[in-house]
Amino acid sequence: MPDQPVDPTLIEQLKKLQAKYDAMGQDLSSYLDGLLYSDYLTYWDYIHLDTLLSLQNPKTQFPDEEVFIMYHQITELYFRLVLHELEQIINHQHPDESFFLARLGRVVRYFRHLESSFDVMVDGMEREQFLKFRMALLPASGFQSAQYRMIELYSTDMINLVSADQREVLRNAAVPAMLEKLYWRSGATELATGKKTLTLQQFEIKYKDDFRETGERVKEKNLWQLYQRYYTSSPDTAKIIAALREFDTLANVLWPLAHLKSAGHYLHKDPEDIKATGGTNWQKYLPPRFQRTIFFPDLWSDAEKQEWGKAAFVNR
Ligand code: HEM
Repeated sequence: MPDQPVDPTLIEQLKKLQAKYDAMGQDLSSYLDGLLYSDYLTYWDYIHLDTLLSLQNPKTQFPDEEVFIMYHQITELYFRLVLHELEQIINHQHPDESFFLARLGRVVRYFRHLESSFDVMVDGMEREQFLKFRMALLPASGFQSAQYRMIELYSTDMINLVSADQREVLRNAAVPAMLEKLYWRSGATELATGKKTLTLQQFEIKYKDDFRETGERVKEKNLWQLYQRYYTSSPDTAKIIAALREFDTLANVLWPLAHLKSAGHYLHKDPEDIKATGGTNWQKYLPPRFQRTIFFPDLWSDAEKQEWGKAAFVNR
């Protein structure tokens, strides 16, 4: 069979490849051999499907435990997406407005999905099964989601994550001092004895250094710092403020309310509520109207802050 003429586009591509590999002192011909022998990529290998589907390992025989595990995993993947966008913003020397707004828009979209899908937990498991399999999970709790804490650190100044009653004292404190008083650490400390719950102790052993390192790293370039530095009087300021407010509402009111509904659905019981696996006083700790975490307090009026997490705020 006569040789086919070589497409001139291919020759051009080969020249470009040659230049690329020469620049690195690499032998293009050897790489082409590799291409000749390597397999075609498949979908299942590319997304590591077998690995992904091997990561659900229930502790009990109750089928609904699989729902519980997978929805937590799905949420952690969304958290990873949120962090991926926030990292892109934070690592940019000076993100231009459209880049900042587009990434922030993605973060908002992911949180909308998380809020609207939470009924998978609230309505998607049999209460009787849940109340049994949860006993095999002690003292693990979603409280120990490090990615959730990282999203908080990336979004705002650390002082806004400090327990409300400690903020005045710690306003100009260094990161390690603020870390000691983050709202979630007091949430998992027994008031009477001052003792940390086991859930918190284990969480700290694993992640405390990471939180300190991240807190130092993003001190001057978290989302709020970047907004103040670059976008307070730019053409798209109004759009950026609207996106930041929506993010604040989703992360600190709407997702927490969706999550609280699941705690209420499974753990509420008369005359006495059922204890949380992480050991917090969840009825006092989880409601956003008590927790009052606000990433961007300066973007809300005093009246709005008064109503934070209450029905009037949610239905405004
Ligand atoms: C039936 C479903 C769920 C119930 C009953 C539930 C219950 C609770 C409770 C009672 C707490 C307070 C900490 C404790 O003492 O354990 C908590 C915290 C938390 N849970 Fe869940 N949870 C559920 C699903 C989820 C899911 C799917 C996620 C996704 C990752 C999640 C993430 C969190 C986070 C991030 C916290 C800490 C919140 C904060 O500190 O403000 N939870 N959960």
